[in-house]
Amino acid sequence: METTHATRKGTHKEHVFLLEELHQLERDVVGLQCYSEVLAEKAAPQELEQISRHLSEWLPQHFRREEETLFAKAARISPELEDFCRLMRDEHAELLVRLSRLGDAIDALQREESVNDTIYHVKKEAKEFTLRLRDHVALEEEEFRGFL
Ligand SMILES: [Fe+2]
Ligand SMILES: [Fe+2]
Repeated sequence: METTHATRKGTHKEHVFLLEELHQLERDVVGLQCYSEVLAEKAAPQELEQISRHLSEWLPQHFRREEETLFAKAARISPELEDFCRLMRDEHAELLVRLSRLGDAIDALQREESVNDTIYHVKKEAKEFTLRLRDHVALEEEEFRGFL
């Protein structure tokens, strides 16, 4: 049980870090409009590119750690938890697709002619991604708080 507790604490720490990253992502996206001159020169704001790149490296690792440690243990506890873990795995796959779409939208800032359209697209993808990832983290925190 000690190891499970440590796993859960490790996951919680990663969630805190992840929520901070999402705040930063949102701040960068809100600031996009101010970068219209930079965008006119076909360069995406550096901070936004960096955070998107970092998330696309780090988030799959977080998901893998959860699946291989926390979920693997939790799924053995009850059929309900097994179902919950399956649902969370499905959400991981969906969230990675959304993150990849956000990355593509950010890349497009450097290419597209219509800056306003691409800014709108980045904002839309970022909003959906952050919303769903926050919901996902909240669900995991809630569910795993109960039994670990
Ligand atoms: Fe997760
Ligand atoms: Fe998580």
